Amino acid sequence: MKPDNVVDKNLTWHHHGVNRTDREKLLGHMGATIWFTGLSGSGKSTIADILSEMLHERGVLTAILDGDNVRHGLNSDLGFSPEDRKENIRRIAEVAKLFSSFGVINILAFISPYREDRDFARSLQDENEFVEVYVEVPLEVAEQRDPKGLYKKARNGEIPSFTGISAPYEEPLSPELVLRTHESTAEECAEQILQVLEVKSIVLPVSWEPARE
Ligand code: ADX
Repeated sequence: MKPDNVVDKNLTWHHHGVNRTDREKLLGHMGATIWFTGLSGSGKSTIADILSEMLHERGVLTAILDGDNVRHGLNSDLGFSPEDRKENIRRIAEVAKLFSSFGVINILAFISPYREDRDFARSLQDENEFVEVYVEVPLEVAEQRDPKGLYKKARNGEIPSFTGISAPYEEPLSPELVLRTHESTAEECAEQILQVLEVKSIVLPVSWEPARE
């Protein structure tokens, strides 16, 4: 669907010769987006890495985008106000839509604290190809882990608007999957996501072999 503003700006959508289906055939899997959401320190990036390795071993093309990295480049102009977080997620959602259309499995690890922004990301893609994964840990657990020392700084008032401390986190209401990293290992969590991808036929089960002629 084309947004209204492209009509005003005399822009025309160009359809390319090699399309999504051609790319998915080449790759042997569907393009899709795995959207992690959860507090800082919940384990999003750790699971994203393990999942990416597991998929890579199966010959699946993945791309990982995570908040800390993307904020060094594409989104280096954005801070942590609600407006900036919204813009952060809007841009990433558009990137994910593009990558999916190239047949890639995107693995996105952003706090993405606002339901409305995550719903926007979902709205850009087909229902079957968007997998929202809530990485749920109690705040105390994330704060105890504090891998980057940020919770300590936030408690000391050195970081304003820190998610979970002085800025809100809105839990997903109906994510495709909930992972509790204080109860399962990161490997077990990644396996659970693989199962969802298989059930949705985004990737083929490992045991799958092409039929012989
Ligand atoms: S989001 O809220 O806009 O989705 P994003 O995932 O891009 O956040 O970035 C979160 C990362 O930025 C955290 O893991 C943490 O390392 C760092 N960070 C720095 N300041 C803040 C803050 N005020 N709130 C949350 N995370 C912060």
